Amino acid sequence: MSNSQQANNALANLVNHLTTAIVLINARMEIVALNLAAEDLFRASHNQMHLEPISNLLFLDPVLKKQLQHSSRQHQSFTSRDTQVQQSNGRMLWVDLSVSAVDEQGSLALEIQPLERVKKLSQEARRSTQQQTSTNLVRNLAHEIKNPLGGIRGAAQLLQRELDPSLHEFTDIIISEADRLRDLVDRLVGPQRQAQKQYYNVHQVLDKIDQLLRAEADGQVQVIRNYDPSLPELLIDANQITQVLLNIGRNALQALLEHDIRQGQIVLKTRAIRRFTIGNTCHRLVCCISIIDNGLGIPADLVENIFFPLVTHRAKGTGLGLSIAQSLIQQHQGLIECNSQKGQTCFNVYLPMENNP
Ligand SMILES: Nc1ncnc2c1ncn2[C@@H]1O[C@H](COP(=O)(O)OP(=O)(O)OP(=O)(O)O)[C@@H](O)[C@H]1O
Ligand SMILES: [Mg+2]
Repeated sequence: MSNSQQANNALANLVNHLTTAIVLINARMEIVALNLAAEDLFRASHNQMHLEPISNLLFLDPVLKKQLQHSSRQHQSFTSRDTQVQQSNGRMLWVDLSVSAVDEQGSLALEIQPLERVKKLSQEARRSTQQQTSTNLVRNLAHEIKNPLGGIRGAAQLLQRELDPSLHEFTDIIISEADRLRDLVDRLVGPQRQAQKQYYNVHQVLDKIDQLLRAEADGQVQVIRNYDPSLPELLIDANQITQVLLNIGRNALQALLEHDIRQGQIVLKTRAIRRFTIGNTCHRLVCCISIIDNGLGIPADLVENIFFPLVTHRAKGTGLGLSIAQSLIQQHQGLIECNSQKGQTCFNVYLPMENNP
C-alpha cells in the first residue's frame, strides 16, 4: 500500500472514531459520506444514504438551507450554534452545526454536535457530585448511629435479666426497635463489599427479575421481555445487578399497583449501544438495560431528586432503593438515568462492554 493510501485509510479511520457526526455533501446537496457517529445519530447507513438529498437525512429550515447553498457557491464556512434540525423521523434535535467548504467543487462538510447529550452530560456530572456528597453525609451519620445502638440493645438485655418478667414487654420494645433501626442503618450505610465480577448473561438476571415481579404482581401487571439476543456475556457482579434491577422493577410495580393502573405493563428490554459517554469516558459499546412502566410517571420537579438517599414519595418507602442502585452501578463504571412522563417511565441502566468478550 502506498504512503498516500495509508494516510487516507488512517484519516478515514480517524473520522470514524470522532464522536461528532460528520456528513459530507456535494454542491447538489447530496450526501457523499457519513461517519459512524452520523450513522448512529440519524440511524441511517452510509450505503442507504449515498447520493440521497440531505433533506432525506435531516430537515433544515429554509434560512439554513440557503446558507448551505451560499456556502457551497462561495466556498465559505459558517457555524450555527444552538440550532434546531429535524430528523427524518420528525424528531427535533438541538445541535451545534459547523459547515466547512472542503473543495473547489462546492462540497461541504457538516459537523453536527447534538446538544441534548452534552447538556445531559454536564447535568449528570453535577447530579453525581451532589449525590455523592449527600450519600457520604448519610453514611457517616448512619455509622455514628450504629455504635451507640449496639450499647442500647446490650444494656436493655442486661436490664431484662434483672427485671420482673411483667416488665419485659418494655425491654422487648427497646430491643426490637433497636433491631429495626439497625436494619435501616445497615441499608443506609449501603453496599459494603466490593463488586465480585464474573462473565454472566444479563438475560439470566432479567429472567429472575421477571419471575420475582410476576410473583409479586399476582397477575395484576403484565411483564414483557424484549431482549437483544446478540448481547455477549457481561463482566458483572450478578448479585449486585440483580439488586439494582429488582429495586427499579419493584418501584415500577409499586407505581402501577398503588395507583390501580389498569392494564399495567412492565417491559424489560436490552440493547447494545455504540459510542456512549459515561462520566469522562466515551465507551465504544455499552449494554443498555431498560425497565419501562406505563404508570402515572414522576413529576418533573421530583425526578431530579429520586436518586438521593431518603427521598421517597411513597407512604411506606424508605427512599433508599435508587440510591443503593446508583452506588452499585457506579461500582460497575455504569450509569442509571430516568426519563419519565405520564404513561411512560423508563429507567436505563448502562454498563460498559469493553472488558467483555
Ligand atoms: N417507576 C416509577 N414510577 C413512579 N415513581 C417512581 C418510579 N420509580 C421511582 N419512583 C419514585 O422515586 C422515589 C424513590 O424511589 P426509591 O426506590 O429510591 O425509594 P422508595 O421506593 O420510596 O423506598 P425503598 O425503595 O427504599 O423501599 C419513590 O418514592 C417514587 O416516588
Ligand atoms: Mg423503591
